[in-house]
Amino acid sequence: MIPVSKSQSLGPSRAKWSNPWAFILATTGSAVGLGNIWKFPYIAGEHGGGAFILVYLICILLLGLPVMLAEMLIGRRGKSSPVGSLDVLAREAGSSPLWKGVGMLAVTTGFLILTFYIVVSGWAFSYIHRAASGAFTGATAEQIDGLYQVLLSDPIRLASWSAVVIFVTMFIVNRGIEKGIDKASYILMPGLFVILLILVGYAMTTGHFGEGIRFMFFPDFQKLSVDSVLMALGQAFFSLSLGSAATMVYGSYMPQHISIGKTALWVAGMDTLVALLAGLAIFPLVIAYGLHAGSGPGLIFVTLPLAFGQMPFGTFIGTLFFIMLTFATLTSTIALLEPSISWLTERLRISRFQACAAAGLVVWVLSLGTVFSFNIWADITVFGKTFFELLDYITSAWMLPLGSLLVALFCGWVMARVVSASELNLSQRAYVLWRASIRYVAPVAILMIFLNAIGLNPF
Ligand code: TRP
Repeated sequence: MIPVSKSQSLGPSRAKWSNPWAFILATTGSAVGLGNIWKFPYIAGEHGGGAFILVYLICILLLGLPVMLAEMLIGRRGKSSPVGSLDVLAREAGSSPLWKGVGMLAVTTGFLILTFYIVVSGWAFSYIHRAASGAFTGATAEQIDGLYQVLLSDPIRLASWSAVVIFVTMFIVNRGIEKGIDKASYILMPGLFVILLILVGYAMTTGHFGEGIRFMFFPDFQKLSVDSVLMALGQAFFSLSLGSAATMVYGSYMPQHISIGKTALWVAGMDTLVALLAGLAIFPLVIAYGLHAGSGPGLIFVTLPLAFGQMPFGTFIGTLFFIMLTFATLTSTIALLEPSISWLTERLRISRFQACAAAGLVVWVLSLGTVFSFNIWADITVFGKTFFELLDYITSAWMLPLGSLLVALFCGWVMARVVSASELNLSQRAYVLWRASIRYVAPVAILMIFLNAIGLNPF
């Protein structure tokens, strides 16, 4: 290893995770969310299952993992908010302080995602009660779809559920790293895993588990288009929470002795495992009841409740499912809020409480745009997209990949090699692979996403 001065001196002293597992659980909590349980199964369903999943796994390994290492590296070495860390590290590298703009971009992206994430998370909260009260039992497809439409068409109800989500999030984040985020992850993440295993166990009893596995893992390359490859790439970044400052800010609370490489492997591995297990829990049910696996965003809130309504123990299993989804979204909303809080407290020197109250309120007010886009603003569209669709599109298709691209360029081309080598402390071979990916593979792949997004097919 190349000797270099340790980074403790670079930033102010900071709160720390209680132990390495707390960091792994919290970061996994940020990664595991709607992306794994809501988006992944329906995107995989729409893009032909196995072949898409294979490409997704390659994207995680070749691109997601290296960028995740880069974000942890920036956070831990900078030991400040994402904006402060990039500022500190750009100065250390003798480069332009403008690089802190990358931190600002990432914090803003996380903040904007949060404004629509709490709305969809609110659906999950509200569905716990619906499932538990037996609302799905014996219901027809029209009735279940009606329930979904009733929720979406009522702005007061949607805004109230989003208020519940942001309030719980503010409450936990306000308690700080060790007493708040750390503790919440220790309860929510194991809870999520236990429920997920119960659900997969249940799916095994349906008699259609084999078909579920075949659907997920049989690679039919005929169904794979360029579009699906780029979709897999975007989904990999979204699912690992890259480009949105969460991993950077969590990394800034990471003690020096923890191995970044091993930690990132755990987080990426668990995130992928949850996405695959969610698929294994969902597809056999959908197949067993003769429903359609590629039914789009309604898969979780319409198709699945229909299956819950018909199957034995459906009320119990359905309730567990939506509790799990709520846990998954809550650990993500926490991680989406923390970067803004760390930046506000650092920049304005206000207390965590003040920062949480102000940021939470603004998030809720902005979330009304998403709320209204399902009802009173449903007809107002820009480029054919509602406010919600536009926000989702701008953040997921543009801001997340752009943030990840700039992070990769910064770590690959601006930061000194000795600095990244000493901070990452990988084996020689792993370091060479990481550096090749961060300098060449990741930037080229992300540029392809952009070309595709503006309608220029890169192939
Ligand atoms: N990874 C989250 C999910 O799969 C979504 C997400 C993107 C996110 N960026 C984030 C969550 C930043 C927390 C923090 O649902």
